[in-house]
Amino acid sequence: MARILNFGSLNLDQVYRVDAFVQPGETKSSRSLETHCGGKGLNQSVAAARAGAEVWHAGIIGCDGEMLYDKLNENGVNLSQIERSAAVSGHAIIQVDDKGQNCILLYGGTNQELTEDYIDRVLKAFGSDGLVLVQNETNLVGSVIERAHAAGLQVAINAAPMDEKVFSYPLEFVDWLIVNEIEGASIAKCTREDEILPTLAKRYPKMNVLLTLGKRGAICMRGSESAKSGIYPVKVVDTTAAGDTFLGYFLTEALDGKSLSDALALATVASSLCVQSMGAADSVPQRKDTLSALETGALGVCGEWGGWR
Ligand code: RIB
Repeated sequence: MARILNFGSLNLDQVYRVDAFVQPGETKSSRSLETHCGGKGLNQSVAAARAGAEVWHAGIIGCDGEMLYDKLNENGVNLSQIERSAAVSGHAIIQVDDKGQNCILLYGGTNQELTEDYIDRVLKAFGSDGLVLVQNETNLVGSVIERAHAAGLQVAINAAPMDEKVFSYPLEFVDWLIVNEIEGASIAKCTREDEILPTLAKRYPKMNVLLTLGKRGAICMRGSESAKSGIYPVKVVDTTAAGDTFLGYFLTEALDGKSLSDALALATVASSLCVQSMGAADSVPQRKDTLSALETGALGVCGEWGGWR
């Protein structure tokens, strides 16, 4: 069984429904406001747990974040290493428009309070069997990567949101890099999308890569194995956490020894189910529903991979 320790961000998502995103200098009214559990870290923990992995979540919950703990708990995530702080939790202000697209403003809050002592304690408790997952929404990401590798664990990073800090991380210790085309091009320092994978393979020979391409699908490589997939023609309500769902399902399947094409197939179904409902963690589908949609063809026919731009 896949075993994942996620040093993951935990956010309270304030989700505003709008007909179109607010523009500079503009004031506008939203149609609704909902608070959801989110954070790339929390969403990915929920996705991997629902996909069937054993998931431990490490992170710091603030004075206002009890619902984040409850959400992970109800999904069977191991919370023995969670800590609490009197400061406010991380949060995100999310606008969702009529096309289901979003734009997100983050405040780090307690996601920025990790310490090196804490990282060492958590790694000791988890042991040396499994994979450590990080995103770029917490502090000390580089230290987590370095220490996890030194402890004999595999390491995966979802380098999102992309910023300058990523260039300081020891990416040579990363076993799985999960990025979209903008993040991938930035890390590989490429101008053409079709150069991303070969450039990364040359620079980081032991790194496996999952490159997501939005509506064009995804492509991945693991050593000499590679696979690609398109997307299903479903009605999009809210894309929030679709990438996190994809990642959680894909990683769980890949760690369980599935072929890359099987892992992509299940992850594609899961994220297609995710975009059909509002919210972040709550829109991640359960494994049985994902398998059923794959087996019955309930989502229609999966399109061809959309190619490079
Ligand atoms: O990937 C979606 C997530 O990004 C949201 O839940 C939000 O909290 C931000 O971290």
